[in-house]
Amino acid sequence: MAAGSIMMGTAMNTITLRRPDDWHLHLRDGAVLEGVVADTSRHFARAIIMPNLVPPVVTTADARAYRERIMAALPKGDRFEPLMTLYLTEHTDPDDLEEGVKSGLIHAVKLYPAGATTNSHGGVRDFDKAMPALERMAKIGLPMCVHGEVTTPEVDIFDREAVFIETVLDPLRKRLPDLKVTMEHVTTEDGVNYIKSARNNLAGTITTHHLIINRNAILVGGIRPHYYCLPVAKRENHRLALRAAATSGDARFFLGTDSAPHLDPLKECACGCAGIYTSVNTMSCLAHVFEQENALDRLEAFASLNGPAWYGLAPNEERITMVKRDQPVAFPDKRETAEGPITVFDPMFPLHWDVSEG
Ligand code: NCD
Ligand code: ZN
Repeated sequence: MAAGSIMMGTAMNTITLRRPDDWHLHLRDGAVLEGVVADTSRHFARAIIMPNLVPPVVTTADARAYRERIMAALPKGDRFEPLMTLYLTEHTDPDDLEEGVKSGLIHAVKLYPAGATTNSHGGVRDFDKAMPALERMAKIGLPMCVHGEVTTPEVDIFDREAVFIETVLDPLRKRLPDLKVTMEHVTTEDGVNYIKSARNNLAGTITTHHLIINRNAILVGGIRPHYYCLPVAKRENHRLALRAAATSGDARFFLGTDSAPHLDPLKECACGCAGIYTSVNTMSCLAHVFEQENALDRLEAFASLNGPAWYGLAPNEERITMVKRDQPVAFPDKRETAEGPITVFDPMFPLHWDVSEG
């Protein structure tokens, strides 16, 4: 089979695609970083690295130092490019940000509404205060990655994305029509429709797990903390809308795994952290989903082409080959780190697609 082509046929069991990228990834720091980074660099060429460390990555100098720690943690021989982001605060300095972009280090700025998710208490409360940074981003074409949920206690957690679109995102985009916005980890039909309705400057990432689970995975038969993440998985109709968007080939939708490792004791307790660890088996899960949707020929657009186009980068030249095995592919249940184990996402069905380097 020729490299780069997609083999079609009644029993398609091999696909070759450009090496994928992950446009939303949590790598953490220290021992956890060291334990997890290889799970991404094994298959992915690049990833947008989330800045929600403790303390967060707020300046270009912070991002430069964090990038060095990531590079030092990579297995020898792995070629992986971390695409760094800054955590937007009410004090973000537009000049520092622009310098980070010009030096090729910074690829996006992340907006967390204060209190929306893990380590987001330093996020933005008053958008007026973040305007100088946002205006500069609009001017220089730097995308804003947004965690699109309101944090108002009165709003039901399952409605927080839809309410955010209506009350925060849409007014902000009208105020700054030149700002490029990546709506991250879209989890609702409302989010999908909002992205589709935009004329320009709006795209969305979709996670692996939101294509596979709905909210029953968290709550039926017992409370299952390893399926809890933010934004929380919604009803089945939303999962179906996400699957349709991801497999449609529409260039505005692409992969951002939101793989978010937490040590098991921090998830398996009375107030467990949000986050699902999918880096290990994401490509196998995606091939399974795309095959179910008769869209294996569109997996490359979702995982390898649409993201770089949005971020103004060339797609990767290297290829990976995926093979459908007769026997299920074995993945570890847990990723062991020097600080303890991290449970790997279990899609609850056997995975037969395997990445075989090619
Ligand atoms: C993320 C984390 O753990 O950092 N958790 C999650 O559930 N996705 C934060 C985030 O992206 O919201
Ligand atoms: Zn995230």
